[in-house]
Amino acid sequence: MGKLILLTSGKGGSGKSSITCGLGAALCRRGNSVLLVDMDEGLRTLDLMLGLSSQTLFDLSDVYNSRCTLKAAVKQAGKDVYGRLYLLPAPLKAGEIQGDSRLEELKHLMAASYDYVLIDSPAGLDTGFMSAAAGVRDVIVVATPDPVCVRIAASVRETLFKAGEHNIRMLINKFSKDMLYRGTVFNIDEVIDETGIQLIGVVPYDRSVQQAASAGEPLDYGLAARAFDRIAARLDGEHVSINEREL
Ligand SMILES: Nc1ncnc2c1ncn2[C@@H]1O[C@H](COP(=O)(O)OP(=O)(O)OP(=O)(O)O)[C@@H](O)[C@H]1O
Ligand SMILES: [Mg+2]
Repeated sequence: MGKLILLTSGKGGSGKSSITCGLGAALCRRGNSVLLVDMDEGLRTLDLMLGLSSQTLFDLSDVYNSRCTLKAAVKQAGKDVYGRLYLLPAPLKAGEIQGDSRLEELKHLMAASYDYVLIDSPAGLDTGFMSAAAGVRDVIVVATPDPVCVRIAASVRETLFKAGEHNIRMLINKFSKDMLYRGTVFNIDEVIDETGIQLIGVVPYDRSVQQAASAGEPLDYGLAARAFDRIAARLDGEHVSINEREL
């Protein structure tokens, strides 16, 4: 059985979709098969970020409504080392999916078919988020280290706590030493203290994240890619220390 992981943040633009793609690519480099599931109904982006927008015939709602099989809706997202990276696109319209037992059953089918299933959640804490979270225990909360995003991350933790037992980790994204020295953002310890969430890793601000997405290719160069490699190793059970000097 593979690992089912929700990537969420509450706040829009913190980097959930970029992290889903970057982490998925890093897990693939380690030899894992990885399914990326876009659950941002009506605002899908992973197909664009992976250069698959013209190739998506079916989406999650087609599988959910039994109009096609999971296999028919999933697209291969790369070649060579990325030949085991796959995408299940989000529905073009919002409101097609409910966080019910059918969706949970489908997520378990996905986990049985891949080493990792990474679910990209929409922003906010309403029905789209609850559907993305349904049936998932392992959660990575993506937060940029600014006070607004960090406060919202703490609300995500509260919401998940009320919804049941979860294994929550924090990923700090767009970390920049310049901003830290200027005092405009929290340092890593402050983010952990403010949210009460244990850290899984820190991804630096790196223009290559946006460049890879614009090119529609998996990210495999630059500081952010190396940070994703370290986080992927931790998910695979290796002990890799978090070293601020590498950022
Ligand atoms: N580590 C990073 N370094 C530099 N830019 C980044 C990084 N992570 C994300 N970005 C950029 O931030 C912007 C928002 O990223 P993304 O779309 O992944 O966020 P999101 O949380 O999925 O947004 P939404 O809430 O709208 O779904 C994009 O332009 C992306 O390229
Ligand atoms: Mg997104």
